[in-house]
Amino acid sequence: MTHHDKDTILKINSVSVSFDGFYALSEVGISVKRHTIHFFIGPNGAGKTTLLDIICAKTKPTMGTVYFYPKGKEQLRLTGMKEHEIARDGVGRKFQVPSVFVNLTVLDNMILSLKGHKDIFDSIFRRPSKEDFDRIDNVLEKVGLSDRKEIKAGSLAHGEKQWLEIAMQLVSEPELIMLDEPAAGMGKAETFKTGELLKEIKQEHTVIVVEHDMEFVKQVADTVTVLHEGRVLTEGCVSDVLANKTVQSVYLGRGGED
Ligand SMILES: Nc1ncnc2c1ncn2[C@@H]1O[C@H](COP(=O)(O)OP(=O)(O)OP(=O)(O)O)[C@@H](O)[C@H]1O
Ligand SMILES: [Mg+2]
Repeated sequence: MTHHDKDTILKINSVSVSFDGFYALSEVGISVKRHTIHFFIGPNGAGKTTLLDIICAKTKPTMGTVYFYPKGKEQLRLTGMKEHEIARDGVGRKFQVPSVFVNLTVLDNMILSLKGHKDIFDSIFRRPSKEDFDRIDNVLEKVGLSDRKEIKAGSLAHGEKQWLEIAMQLVSEPELIMLDEPAAGMGKAETFKTGELLKEIKQEHTVIVVEHDMEFVKQVADTVTVLHEGRVLTEGCVSDVLANKTVQSVYLGRGGED
């Protein structure tokens, strides 16, 4: 049991992760509020991806627990649950490495992402319903890929592939969506567009983002948690975090900005 206010959707309680004695995370505690865009930032190797792995149970913590508070439902202790159970119960995850099926069309990639369509077999033999197609259309509209449905995912521009991956998460309607470097490799215009997309997404979901691009963080972040060597260095709104002297020396001074 943990105490929390009803605005909290996720609580990470003193999580530590040791890989053969090396602590990738040490006593990390973070609360995430509903309908916010919450960033995890920090230098390479700070533990950002590991933290996402802990939340979705790809990695087991050595110590600590993660709780999820789905709206109107019982709290869930994510620690100890299986990855697919967590996904089913409303936590989506876009990985750092792109994972679209390049030889399938945008539409087929979306169909594969529908809840209950776990493999190609399912998607071929169980036709999606009218509601499924409507939901896919809605999401593709939101990410700006409506006119790309019949195009092979491999032929999309880099930014479009990232948006397709976000769309593939959104179609199963997760309450919480986690994005690992969604703007990686994007130009300024595409990055800005991704930011505006995230602002739209937070109306209906909660978004956790790992990103290095500080312009992007400034554009959209509600809360920023700075990780450094596996620990929480500081947390707050963008301006507070950027004004923090320790953050400036460990992070910004080492290529975080520009
Ligand atoms: N499975 C693993 N086994 C051993 N060490 C690991 C494992 N996964 C991550 N690490 C180590 O844990 C530390 C944190 O890695 P992590 O990938 O979480 O960093 P990150 O903040 O996402 O970095 P980047 O910005 O480069 O993506 C690194 O030192 C990494 O080498
Ligand atoms: Mg990473």
